[in-house]
Amino acid sequence: MITVTDLCKSFDGTQVLNNVSLTVAAGEVVGVIGPSGSGKSTLLRCLNHLETPDSGVIEVDGHQAYIDERGKTLSAARIADTRSGVGMVFQHFNLFPHLTVLQNVASGPRFVRRKDRAESEQRARALLAQVGLAEKADQHPEQLSGGQQQRVAIARALAMQPKVMLFDEPTSALDPELVGDVLAVMQQLAEDGMTMIVVTHEMGFVRKVAGRVIFMDEGRIVEQGSPAEIFEAPAQPRTRSFLSSVLTHTAQDGTA
Ligand SMILES: Nc1ncnc2c1ncn2[C@@H]1O[C@H](COP(=O)(O)OP(=O)(O)O)[C@@H](O)[C@H]1O
Ligand SMILES: [Mg+2]
Repeated sequence: MITVTDLCKSFDGTQVLNNVSLTVAAGEVVGVIGPSGSGKSTLLRCLNHLETPDSGVIEVDGHQAYIDERGKTLSAARIADTRSGVGMVFQHFNLFPHLTVLQNVASGPRFVRRKDRAESEQRARALLAQVGLAEKADQHPEQLSGGQQQRVAIARALAMQPKVMLFDEPTSALDPELVGDVLAVMQQLAEDGMTMIVVTHEMGFVRKVAGRVIFMDEGRIVEQGSPAEIFEAPAQPRTRSFLSSVLTHTAQDGTA
């Protein structure tokens, strides 16, 4: 579903992604972990065209994401087309504050895909039910808790019928008691077969839901493997020291 080959990206002469290569099969759930500044967000942002790679190849669902078959940069229309197959959920939910919850979820299909209003809203209601928020359809984002807003953001991304969902620390901005509902929606999505790449510090979620874990440090994939391999028998010293600091910290603050 996704193939990344030798992806490089630098900002102001600092290399942030250093020959990153990975493949993600359809239906796979990949957890990405690693210290702050290791390039996790930049990787997701390159996959979703929020950053342009310096070099490397990204293919999503058989289509090159940045250049066409002849090596020319894709037109804006083709980029928009590939990009709409990739849903993204951010740490900060970025809902439209002046729109209702229903309008937030229906807006992509209506205004980007030019679907009619009734059809867009009917599908938006179904998605709100899927994330457990059917009764919030007519409220505005500010009337919802952070966890509810994040579930609306997930529904809004799903409304574009993406082939892949990218999550960039979706629960990091939430109060601890609101994290569980968001993770439950993500787990259900994974069980329904969605292809997902999830950057998170929720190690319990990664252990339970991800089929594969990628550990990044300093712009490289240091190690990847099954949750059992990475959490119980990491091969690399850097993976070990990262996990021991994260797991000690979560055990101490009681949120493990
Ligand atoms: N738009 C940008 N301009 C300059 N530097 C950036 C930009 N985005 C990210 N960086 C830098 O790239 C590095 C990796 O950032 P990021 O991908 O956000 O890491 P992570 O998500 O793993 O914390 C950091 O050093 C960050 O400061
Ligand atoms: Mg980040």
